[in-house]
Amino acid sequence: MRRDLDFRSDTFTLPDAGMRRAMAEAELGDDVFNEDPTVHRLEEKVAALFGREAALLVPTGTMANLIGVGVHCGRGDEAVMERRTHSFTYETGGISGLLGVLPAVVDCPEGWLGLEGLEGAIRGDNVHWPRTKLALVENTANLSGGRVVPLDHMVSLLALCHRRGLALHVDGARIWNAAVASGMSLADYGAAADSLSCCLSKGLGCPAGSLVVGDRSLVEEGRRLRKMLGGGMRQSGVLAAAGLYALEHFLPRLEEDHHMATRLARVLRMVLDESCEVVEPETNMVLVRTVEPDLTLQLVDNWASHGMRVLTLGATTIRLVTHHDLPADAPEQVLERLS
Ligand SMILES: Cc1ncc(COP(=O)(O)O)c(C=O)c1O
Repeated sequence: MRRDLDFRSDTFTLPDAGMRRAMAEAELGDDVFNEDPTVHRLEEKVAALFGREAALLVPTGTMANLIGVGVHCGRGDEAVMERRTHSFTYETGGISGLLGVLPAVVDCPEGWLGLEGLEGAIRGDNVHWPRTKLALVENTANLSGGRVVPLDHMVSLLALCHRRGLALHVDGARIWNAAVASGMSLADYGAAADSLSCCLSKGLGCPAGSLVVGDRSLVEEGRRLRKMLGGGMRQSGVLAAAGLYALEHFLPRLEEDHHMATRLARVLRMVLDESCEVVEPETNMVLVRTVEPDLTLQLVDNWASHGMRVLTLGATTIRLVTHHDLPADAPEQVLERLS
């Protein structure tokens, strides 16, 4: 039977047999008491990869971002972010709803938080205004099509933040993809942030798990916040074991997802006409922009009837994400199915 090609997201990846085995065999303890040896190994490994003092395992990227905001901001403080940022768009307003932090949203031509955008949003000292405490930037930038925010931009953002008394939190759900695509090291990205979150549950194929990375004191504050948010987990070594396995087995193959995205973009250009623009991918996401909403819906329906599952980002953009659960010849199958 023909298998569906699921391009909806890299979050649909399933743990493979080796990962399940690693989870089953993990050495465990109670992590709220800081006694799970596998969690310790993962946290130390991730901190070392990013060249930082410490890391904290949390269930989701959303919680990692909440902690990243909460360790820098108090109630009534403001965090500057670009409109397309995941924290603003897709995290149920949690930074306001749970932390009382106000998002200061800016539109930036770069597709992510630019220097001018940030500078313009930082408020001065005035009794009427909230205090601007944080800038938040996402790398890779999901709604911009998985584009890589260049390292030198991250360094400039951090310098601007520090000059103006702000901290910088990086939502690095797919920072692995940014490092692979840019050829920069994770430690380079780790140095260009006050706090950084990364996800194991996207292209790395884990069932759950994200980490917050930074200085030890920041991570210890994050540990309190994690407990407050209900994210203190007990034998979370089962998740940490999946993470350690993913770093060993899936991180080194991430480049294949990027190659597949490039091949997929080429195929889509072959089968689509000029009413669609296929954006050249930088990592594992291909965006197709259409001239009108009806065409978007037609394409999504047509592709579904050919066993291709995709998501839309707004009325005139379709997103296709490549990942390791797709067959290696997925782009060629797309060509065959749509020709
Ligand atoms: C850029 C980005 N940040 C954060 C998240 C949130 O991760 P989670 O779904 O684990 O809460 C996602 C999820 O897709 C994401 O794409």
